[in-house]
Amino acid sequence: MRPEKTPPERNRSPHGAPAATHARLDDVLAAQLAACDQAGLRRRLVVTDPDGSYVLRSGRRLLNLSSNNYLGLADHPALKEAAREAAERYGTGAGASRLVTGHLPLAAELEEAVARWKGTEAAVVFTSGYAANVGVIPALVGRGDVVFSDRLNHASIVDGIVLSRAHHVRYRHNDVEHLEHLLKKAPREARKLIVTDAVFSMDGDAAPLEDLVALKERYGAWLMVDEAHSAGLLGPRGAGLVAALGLTEAVEVQMGTFSKALGAYVAGSRTLIDWLVQRARSLVYSTGLPPAVLAASLSGLRLAQEEPWRREKALDLAARFRAALRAAGLAVGEGPSAIVPLIVGISAAALAVSRALEEQGILAVAIRPPTVPEGTARLRFSFSALHDKGDVDRAARAAIDAVRALGGPAT
Ligand SMILES: Cc1ncc(COP(=O)(O)O)c(C=O)c1O
Repeated sequence: MRPEKTPPERNRSPHGAPAATHARLDDVLAAQLAACDQAGLRRRLVVTDPDGSYVLRSGRRLLNLSSNNYLGLADHPALKEAAREAAERYGTGAGASRLVTGHLPLAAELEEAVARWKGTEAAVVFTSGYAANVGVIPALVGRGDVVFSDRLNHASIVDGIVLSRAHHVRYRHNDVEHLEHLLKKAPREARKLIVTDAVFSMDGDAAPLEDLVALKERYGAWLMVDEAHSAGLLGPRGAGLVAALGLTEAVEVQMGTFSKALGAYVAGSRTLIDWLVQRARSLVYSTGLPPAVLAASLSGLRLAQEEPWRREKALDLAARFRAALRAAGLAVGEGPSAIVPLIVGISAAALAVSRALEEQGILAVAIRPPTVPEGTARLRFSFSALHDKGDVDRAARAAIDAVRALGGPAT
């Protein structure tokens, strides 16, 4: 049979050259979506209306155990007032990128406050943690260099490495022996950057930063630490895990977020920050944060330092929940953080446990591949200063019952 002829007008590119016959984009995407559905991996945006430690979602009021609002500052009156005043004084947008006219007085003030808090010479603010990671890594390394990255690092780190065009070497999660083996194999003359989350976003465990510092010194590498889930929670004045371990001088690049809602920062030497202003493309080619966000971040940073009870409470509640699940024989991750993963294995099981919790009025979103490795689908519980012991005990009971209903541990 002769192949069907494509009408000539559809078979030519705009430049006149013959174009390949191809399927309609929507048909290709619909088939891919159907495959996601079949694998239990279809993702959907669900409208979620925050209400303190609760959310309104799909017509129900649910206890929110799926937020990164660890310190409970997202709807604090002081932050809202600061945002309101900044909008009145400076308007609603920065109006330009930082190097043009978008470097507002509030941005300079926030950067000085971050540097004081972290104990570094300088700091620079980015619009988000994602923007920081994809901007910083390509500013520091490029073709011919080598980046060593923990296998469980956040996707924004992975994307930053890919954009840098450096050689991407992944080491087994928190495995310093594996990292050393890989460092030994790298060309001696290549620039080497080790990158790690301080607290891993989907596992809640901490990186062995002291060992990483020893290795980077032994092999002439630099170290970048992402404090998105530890800044505000760990260390003196909540300054993070690097500060908690007294490693501020040893770690070249510290990145972090302001409670995952108010932008992000990179802190380090004056020279590092000056260089990022030259070359971090997500800083140079993107409009600065709106004044209201800068002012809320400043206010939040002040409260995070002045009210240590916030971090103590979030961490205590997470520890209480972790202990209850462990005592029931469930597979929970260890760690010093406010994140408690309950690993259930396949995606369908994670979705079933999440649905069972929702029936009990509790929101714990199922996290599935590719966000986590195949076979480790989980519920990621996170606790904040807004929760109380009653919330924790109710959630623990409901999680244990839901896993048992699926045939899990029955101790
Ligand atoms: C470790 C880590 N780094 C970076 C990011 C990105 O931060 P943002 O949400 O501010 O873009 C996240 C967000 O989930 C994260 O978990």
